[in-house]
Amino acid sequence: MSSHDGRAKITLTTLQRYKERGEKFASVAVYDASFAEIASAAGIEVLLVGDSLGMVVQGHDSTLPVTMEDVVYHLGMAARGNRGALLMGDMPFMSYYSEGLTLENAGRLMRAGAHIIKLEGGRWIAESTHLLVERGIPVCAHMGLTPQSINRFGGFRVQGRDPAQAQNMIDEAAMLEQAGASILLLECVPVALAQTITERLAIPVIGIGAGPHTDGQIMVMHDLLGITPPSFKPPKFVKNFLLDSTTGIRGAFEAYAGAVHGGSFPGPEHSYT
Ligand code: KIV
Repeated sequence: MSSHDGRAKITLTTLQRYKERGEKFASVAVYDASFAEIASAAGIEVLLVGDSLGMVVQGHDSTLPVTMEDVVYHLGMAARGNRGALLMGDMPFMSYYSEGLTLENAGRLMRAGAHIIKLEGGRWIAESTHLLVERGIPVCAHMGLTPQSINRFGGFRVQGRDPAQAQNMIDEAAMLEQAGASILLLECVPVALAQTITERLAIPVIGIGAGPHTDGQIMVMHDLLGITPPSFKPPKFVKNFLLDSTTGIRGAFEAYAGAVHGGSFPGPEHSYT
């Protein structure tokens, strides 16, 4: 099957092959049809409609206020613009606290156009992962700095620097793979820990602020395009690719995809030790 512009559609099998061949893939969080079309046509393999929309689109100071209705609304738009990328839908805060709710809400995202859904958490999401996968809904497990738990972490901080916490993350990643997760996403973890987890898992691992060794990278489109409100200090892992582009926004997405595919992004200046 091919996409609207003739490029082969990206599926979970495609990403698995990338991992096996040691090829990198790029991913970006987008929230509407226009950017979904530009990013996917620029060669970005995975689009996420993330609950980061609460911060970059709605202006909240965390992702907690985002609702299922918000994600379904933005996912529908992104699905209409998408040209062959794998489309991931984010399960917002408190939308997966019980079996029934998890199945119902994941089903809503799949009906809105998602190919895979994303859940934040460690061992406690293993059961939900198994439940969803058994019913045909692929899962990306998001670990490390999980923004829905920001109040427990006490701020946006690198996770897994402490050896016991790092070991726990390695164990939980293996547990989620065992439960059937198709992708693991690591946010804000030290380079060496992300490398260990990526090497130990057979499934593709996507990183944000997790160094250069993960199989894929993900960025929020506002960060990639340098859309930064004056009140916001971008984290270390952010790079403005619009500055590298002579062809505008599409060029910025292409520059990002090219840098990820070629292994030049992220560099040490974007990574944590
Ligand atoms: O919601 C989101 O956009 C995300 C990415 C930052 C990974 O979870």
